Amino acid sequence: MRIDPFEKFAMIVGGILLGAFILAIAYANFVWGVKVPTCEVVTRPFSKGAFIETAPKTYEVQVVARMWYFDMGTGKNEITIPAGSKVTFFVTSGDVVHGIKIPEKNINIMAIPGVVGRVQTTFERPGEYLMVCHEYCGIGHQGMYAKINVIQ
Ligand code: CUA
Repeated sequence: MRIDPFEKFAMIVGGILLGAFILAIAYANFVWGVKVPTCEVVTRPFSKGAFIETAPKTYEVQVVARMWYFDMGTGKNEITIPAGSKVTFFVTSGDVVHGIKIPEKNINIMAIPGVVGRVQTTFERPGEYLMVCHEYCGIGHQGMYAKINVIQ
């Protein structure tokens, strides 16, 4: 069987790139400790937000994304935590597909109806961290945000 030289070239380049991507992900995972956001298969989707302190400076936040706000169980679109807090976000959606991005923490996770995503981070420095929706979810999308206040 004869393979067109251009097709052969494209397959070889594609294979090399695929291998490079897998190596880059493995390197980031094992050397830098970067964890890919995962779907929780044992956690049932929830319909209400919650903000729970599980230990000193350790929090679990159940985030329900809705048109057009993030329900985090505080009655406001913000949470306040002390610096050095480790926070685990459990993320789902009550209506359509949304997304959560916390640019300062390099966090980017989808909020999908019927699915729970999980991501964990530590807020070392005090300040105001913005959490924005990054998936177009309707006419109120651009105003869909929440704040994480990290205090001294
Ligand atoms: Cu929610 Cu865009």
